[in-house]
Amino acid sequence: MRRWTPQAVIALTVAVVPSSCRVIELSGSDWTLSNPLLNISVPAKLPSQAHVELFAAQVIGDPYFGLNDFNLRWVAWSNWTYTSAPLISLNKDAASTYLVFNGLDTFSTIELCGKHVASTNNQFRQYYFDVTNILETCAEDPVLSLNFGSAPEIANEIAAQPGQETWPYGVEMVYEFPNRQFIRKEQSDFGWDWGPAFAPAGPWLPASVVELGVEEIYVRNSLVDIYRLGQLNNLPPDQEQPWVLNASVDYLGQSGSNRGINYRLLDADNSTVSSGSLTNITTGQGVITGAAIIPSESVQLWWPNGLGPQTLYRLELEIVDSGNKTIVSLAKRVGFRTIVLNEGVITAQQLAQGIAPGNNWHFEINGHEFYAKGSNFIPPDAFWVRVTEARIRDLFEAVVAGNQNMLRVWSSGAYSPDFMYDIADELGILLWSEFEFGDALYPVDREFLDNVSEEATYQVRRVNHHPSLAFWAGGNELENLELSIVEKTAPDQYDRLVAEYEKLFLETLVPIVFGNSKSISYAPSSTSNGYLELDFSLPVPLVERYENKTPGSIYGETDYYNYNSALAFNFSSYPVGRFSNEFGYHSMPSLQSWRQAISPEDLYFNSTVIQLRNRHYPPGGLNTSNFENTTKGMGEMTVAAQRWYPVPDKQDSVANFSAWCHTTQIFQADFYQSQIMFYRRGSGMSERQLGCLYWQLEDIWQTPTWAGIEYDGRWKVLHYVARDIYQPVIISPFFNRTTGELEVYVTSDLWSDVSGTANFAWYDWSGKKLDIDTPTSAEFSVGAINTTLVLKANTKDILNGFDPENVILVANASAEGKLPNSDQQQTFTHENWFHPTSLAKAKLVDPGLELSHSADTQKFTVTATKGVAAWVWLDYPEGAVLYFDQNAFLLLPGQSKVVGYTVKNDTTGGGWVDGVTVRSLWDNNVP
Ligand SMILES: *[C@@H]1O[C@H](CO)[C@@H](O)[C@H](O)[C@H]1NC(C)=O
Ligand SMILES: *[C@@H]1O[C@H](CO)[C@@H](O)[C@H](O)[C@H]1NC(C)=O
Ligand SMILES: *[C@@H]1O[C@H](CO)[C@@H](O)[C@H](O)[C@H]1NC(C)=O
Ligand SMILES: *[C@@H]1O[C@H](CO)[C@@H](O)[C@H](O)[C@H]1NC(C)=O
Ligand SMILES: *[C@@H]1O[C@H](CO)[C@@H](O)[C@H](O)[C@H]1NC(C)=O
Ligand SMILES: *[C@@H]1O[C@H](CO)[C@@H](O)[C@H](O)[C@H]1NC(C)=O
Repeated sequence: MRRWTPQAVIALTVAVVPSSCRVIELSGSDWTLSNPLLNISVPAKLPSQAHVELFAAQVIGDPYFGLNDFNLRWVAWSNWTYTSAPLISLNKDAASTYLVFNGLDTFSTIELCGKHVASTNNQFRQYYFDVTNILETCAEDPVLSLNFGSAPEIANEIAAQPGQETWPYGVEMVYEFPNRQFIRKEQSDFGWDWGPAFAPAGPWLPASVVELGVEEIYVRNSLVDIYRLGQLNNLPPDQEQPWVLNASVDYLGQSGSNRGINYRLLDADNSTVSSGSLTNITTGQGVITGAAIIPSESVQLWWPNGLGPQTLYRLELEIVDSGNKTIVSLAKRVGFRTIVLNEGVITAQQLAQGIAPGNNWHFEINGHEFYAKGSNFIPPDAFWVRVTEARIRDLFEAVVAGNQNMLRVWSSGAYSPDFMYDIADELGILLWSEFEFGDALYPVDREFLDNVSEEATYQVRRVNHHPSLAFWAGGNELENLELSIVEKTAPDQYDRLVAEYEKLFLETLVPIVFGNSKSISYAPSSTSNGYLELDFSLPVPLVERYENKTPGSIYGETDYYNYNSALAFNFSSYPVGRFSNEFGYHSMPSLQSWRQAISPEDLYFNSTVIQLRNRHYPPGGLNTSNFENTTKGMGEMTVAAQRWYPVPDKQDSVANFSAWCHTTQIFQADFYQSQIMFYRRGSGMSERQLGCLYWQLEDIWQTPTWAGIEYDGRWKVLHYVARDIYQPVIISPFFNRTTGELEVYVTSDLWSDVSGTANFAWYDWSGKKLDIDTPTSAEFSVGAINTTLVLKANTKDILNGFDPENVILVANASAEGKLPNSDQQQTFTHENWFHPTSLAKAKLVDPGLELSHSADTQKFTVTATKGVAAWVWLDYPEGAVLYFDQNAFLLLPGQSKVVGYTVKNDTTGGGWVDGVTVRSLWDNNVP
C-alpha cells in the first residue's frame, strides 16, 4: 500500500506545507532490491543503500566485520535494481505529475511503467522529472524501477574514454578504487586512510511522487539568507546596519504572474517579531525571490557554544497570488548572526599591537574575533542511511561537552543532512562546510562543470538559513597538496592545472556562493595561504595568493602531520600560521571496539586482520597479500608508544593487547595536547593564531585512526584530553629539550581580562615534595584572547643535583573572569604537569590506586594511596557507551577525585558499573 498525505512533512524544522498539491512519499518498505544475474532478490526500504538491505536479508555478513570490506567488493562491482510495488493510488487526472529524488547514489537509470524516464550521474543533486505523459499512457498501476550501475566500473569507463584528462602521477590519491575524481559521488566511498571502501549504491535520500493541479506548485528547495544591509561576502559587515532577510523559493508547477511572498518571523514563544510582504519580488523559471528589512533591535543574536545563547526563530513564508491568497506555505528555522572569514591584510593597528605582517585568517562572529576550538568531522558511517538523528545528537553533545565550538565538515564525504545543521543550530556548533572535492584534481569539461553547478546551487540554497553554517570551502587539500605536487613533479603542467583549478573552484563555484548568499564566506581550498586580493569589481572577486609570500609575513592556515614521533613534543617543529585546520597522529581503538569487529583469535597488535584494516598509509591498490604500507602505520604507533611510555608487558595476551591499544591512545592525546597548547598560545604571539581544529572528531568504523571518538561513541583518551585543554583558561608548559628552557604560560580565550594566581610544585614520582628553586606561585592577568608567561626557568640550572627521571612539576591556575556575553563573574581553574624526560624512563612507582562507586551519588572515587599516578584511566566494559566527567588525569598520593558520568547507551541494565576498572601508566609494567 502506498501511504499518501495531503501535507508532506519534510525534515524536523522544514515543514513544507503545500496548500493542495499531493505528495506521495516513496519512502517505506514495499520495495524489492534485485540483481537477476546473481539471482538475488530481497526486500528493501527507501531510503536505501544496497549493502544495508543485503545484510538485513542475510545475503551478506556484517560489512564491518573482519575483512568483509575486501570480501564484499563484488557488491560494488554489480548493478542493483530497486523496484517499487505497483503505485496504486496515483491520480491519473492530475494536471502534472513529477518524480522528485533528493538523492540517488549515483548512476541510475529510472523507468516508470516500463518507460525510460531519465539517467542520473550525481549523488549530490536533487532530481525531478515530469512523468505526466508516461502516466497518461500507462495501462496498469505503474511500477517505478531504479537501476544503479557499478560506480567503480563506471568511473573506470569514464577514465578510459579516448582523450580523457590525466594528471601527473601522485595527484590523484588512490586509496582502493581508482578514478573517483571523474564521478560525483562521496569520494571516501572509494576508500580513505581511515575508512573502508564499499562504494555503496542506492536511493540514499527520500523520494516522492508529486501531483499538481493546474494552479498548484510544489516547493522543492528554498533559500533564506540573513545578512547586514550592505554586507559583502568575506568582508566584516557594519554591525550597526539592520538585517536583510532574503528568501527565494524553488518550485515545480506553473510560474504564474503577479505572485508575492508574505513572511512572519516568530520567536520561541511563537510571538510575532516581524511580518508583512517581501519587497523587490523577482520571478524566474521556477524561482520566486523577495526581501525584507528586519530592524536589529527586533531580534536577539545567535552565538556559538560558550560565546552566548543560541537564539532561534521560526520563519514562515507564504507564496500568494495577485489577490494575496496563499498558494503554498513553508517554514524554516533561522538565526541572526554574521560569521565572516577575515582574510584581510594585517592593518596598521594590528601591526602596532605586535601582530606579524601578512594577512589575517580567522573567523569573526557578530563582529567579534573568537578562538575557534574544534575538530574535523568525517562521514560517521560508510552507509549514510544508518546515520540517524539520535546518533548525530549524541556525537554533537560530545562536541559541546568537549568545549568545542567549530567542526570542519571535511570533504569529501557527503553534504550534511538538514538535521545535522538543525542540531548544530541548537547546540551552537559552527559547521565549516565544504564542496565535496578532495585530494585530487578534477575534470573541467563542460558537462562536468554543469553537473557540479547544479549540485552546488542546490546545496548552497538548501542549507544557507542555518546559523551554524560557518563557511564554504571548495575542497580539501587542493592548493597546499595537489597543486604543490604538480609544481614539484610536473612543473611544465603547473600553469595549465592552476587554470583548470581556478575554472572549477573560482570561476564556477564563486558565482554560485556569492550569487545565492551574502552571509557566507568562501575560499577555494582548505588548506591555503588565503587570498591575494578581494575585489568585487573583478569578474571573479577572489584572487588566490598561492606561494606569493613575503618572507617574515604570515598568511593563511596550516596543517601538520609528522610521523617521526621523536619530534612529537618539539614545539619548534609545529607550523606557525593564523589558524590550524588539521593535525594529528593515529592510535588504536579500544579493546572493546575491536571486539565488535574482529574474531577473538585476531586480538593481538599486529594480527593480519588488524594490519589489513589499518588504511594508513594510502595503500595504492591494497589487496590481502600486500602489507608493505600498512605495516608502516602499525610501526609508527609502536615506535611512538615505546619512545614515550613504559612498554606494556603483560602475560595475558588480550590484556597486553589492550594495554598496547591504550598506550597508543595516550601518545596521541599527549601529542595533540602539546599542539593545542602551542596553537592557543599563538593567540598572544605575533602570529595571532585564532583557531585549532584537530584531525579527527570521530570514527567511521573500528580501526586505527586519528579519531578521538570511536565508532560506537566511546571516547578515546584524546577526547578527554582535548576537552581539558579546550577549557577557556589553561596553564601550559613549553619545554625545549635542547636548551633546557622551560616556560609556563596561562592562555585565555575569554573576551575580557582574567586575573588570578598560578601555583607550582615539584615532586618525585613517590610524591615527595622537592625543593627545586622556582617560584611557588605567580600572580597574573591575561587580556582578551591572549596569553601570558607565568614561569621561566632552565632545567639545566634548577635540576642540578636532581634526577630528571624522577621529577615532575604540577602547575595550576585559578582566575576570575567572565564568559563572553555573560555578566557573571566566575572562577576558571586548570591544572597541568610537566616532566623533563620521556615517561618511558621515568622512575614511576606503584601509586596504589583505589576505586569505589557510590550508588547514591552515582559517582566513582579514585584515590592514589602510595605514589604519583600518571594518566589515570577509568575504563568501562562493552555493552555501554558513556563518558566520565574527567579521565586521563594525574593524581598525587593522598589525592582523590570524585568522578561522575553521563550514560549515552546501556545494554547492561546498569551492570557496567561493576566492570569499571582504573589504571595508570605504571600498570603497563605489571604482568
Ligand atoms: C548496469 O548499469 C549500467 C549503468 O547504468 C548500464 O549501462 C548497464 O546496462 C547495467 N547492466 C545491467 C545488466 O543491468
Ligand atoms: C509554536 O508553534 C509551533 C508550530 O506551529 C509548535 O510546534 C510549537 O509547539 C509552538 N511553541 C510554543 C511555545 O507555543
Ligand atoms: C497580504 O496579507 C498579509 C497578511 O496575511 C499582510 O501582512 C500583507 O501586508 C498583505 N500584502 C499586501 C500586498 O496586501
Ligand atoms: C530593494 O531594492 C532597492 C533597489 O535596489 C534597494 O535599495 C532596497 O534595499 C531593496 N530592499 C530590500 C529589502 O532588499
Ligand atoms: C606504498 O606507498 C608508497 C607511497 O607512500 C607507494 O609509492 C607504494 O607504491 C606503496 N606500495 C604498495 C605496495 O602499495
Ligand atoms: C607491528 O609491526 C610493525 C611493522 O612490522 C613493527 O614495526 C612493530 O614493532 C610491531 N608492533 C608490535 C607492538 O609488535
